[in-house]
Amino acid sequence: MHDSRVFHRQLQKRPPVAVGGEGVHIIDADGRRYIDASGGAAVSCLGHGHPDVMAAMHRQIDRLSYAHTSFFTTEVAEQLADLLVATAPEGMSHVYFVSGGSEAVEAALKMARQYFVEIGQPQRRHFIARRQSYHGNTLGALAVGGNEWRREQFRPLLIDVTHVSPCYEYRDRRDHETPEQYGQRLVAELSETIGRLGPENVMAFVAETVGGATAGVLTPVPGYFRGIRDLCDRHGILLILDEVMCGMGRTGTLHACEQEGVVPDLLTIAKGLGGGYQPIGAVLAQGRLVEAMKKGSGLFQHGHTYLGHAVACAAALAVQQVIRRDDLLARVRGAGLHLHRRLQERFGAHPHVGDIRGRGLFWGLEFVRDRASQTWFDPALRLHARLKAAAMAQGLMVYPMGGTVDGRCGDHVLLAPPFIASDAELDAIVDRLALALEQVLADISLAS
Ligand SMILES: Cc1ncc(COP(=O)(O)O)c(C=O)c1O
Repeated sequence: MHDSRVFHRQLQKRPPVAVGGEGVHIIDADGRRYIDASGGAAVSCLGHGHPDVMAAMHRQIDRLSYAHTSFFTTEVAEQLADLLVATAPEGMSHVYFVSGGSEAVEAALKMARQYFVEIGQPQRRHFIARRQSYHGNTLGALAVGGNEWRREQFRPLLIDVTHVSPCYEYRDRRDHETPEQYGQRLVAELSETIGRLGPENVMAFVAETVGGATAGVLTPVPGYFRGIRDLCDRHGILLILDEVMCGMGRTGTLHACEQEGVVPDLLTIAKGLGGGYQPIGAVLAQGRLVEAMKKGSGLFQHGHTYLGHAVACAAALAVQQVIRRDDLLARVRGAGLHLHRRLQERFGAHPHVGDIRGRGLFWGLEFVRDRASQTWFDPALRLHARLKAAAMAQGLMVYPMGGTVDGRCGDHVLLAPPFIASDAELDAIVDRLALALEQVLADISLAS
């Protein structure tokens, strides 16, 4: 095979060539089938090759692939926006379409800033976000993100963002604290931080409702987000919830914030919106923000060439219609209980699995060298990378990551199977993951 000219993620090796997809499987050029237990990176909510989505895309391509949004709107963009607003948290009035998660976060940050300029509070310039969060890799999104490893070499290029503690119950809740008390301690920390920056200078608090990629599915404790919402309201600070990964049904409700009883001012969505059939993301915006811009300058000073791409909107519309038609959110909840049960049976007492956490079809396992002390494996062992390779060898795609604890130490694996996965397929995922993990642990014990 000739040298690849693709600037691959890993420059020293070349990934297998994917040639097909069927349901929960991806098939490579050698005919090997992989169960897509992570939906890539929590993307493929309907699996691969869904006939209704393919048909909708074909129909749109045959009519019109692309019309620039400074000239035209399209029927599919309008229909998708209507559907998203009809099912959105209270008060959301408009949808700003982009092409992915980072673009959604960038747009939300700029919307927040422009809103305050429009309403005569231009002194507001600070974002507060959380350590160990992931909001994307473009510079604004990377700046609000709290993963040290990703930020480090780009730090001189990043806007100044203040970071507070994540909601990381497994490691940070103290023995004498209830989950609620722990949540209130975190709210108090945010309150102090706002006080230090001056409440009148803060634009927004940015958080993943359920933390995803870099910390391995951090579920919020009860009352945490309600406390945050109250605090933001008290100071006129916007709450931006990033549900690029955890949203669009992944946790068993369309939006993860529904389970927290809070409504954000801006809500970013992406991965499960189009399910990977097309690149698409969006920001859902509260009516009063849109009104402020409408009455003020009359435009949001932003834009990209591929905003509201017609084929992307057609794909996302079809994905969302299938989810509703087939009652797949109920399936996510039921399948989620099944998967959680199986994970508990297999890994609940495992000496090297410290925590199993998640909701719906969104689960994380955090690995530890020792359960009692919660110490992690030496990062030099790269347990997460070994696990990914071992799982691929078992015909399983999972999404492991290192740096779980602080950007450097700790390992976890993330599971985000398609909503259409059967119980038998979920069982196969757990079986193959267990085999891959045992192989990795055996290799590590030989190496050390
Ligand atoms: C919560 C969150 N925000 C933003 C992003 C960035 O999305 P994208 O990779 O589509 O730019 C991700 C991607 O994993 C994410 O998980």
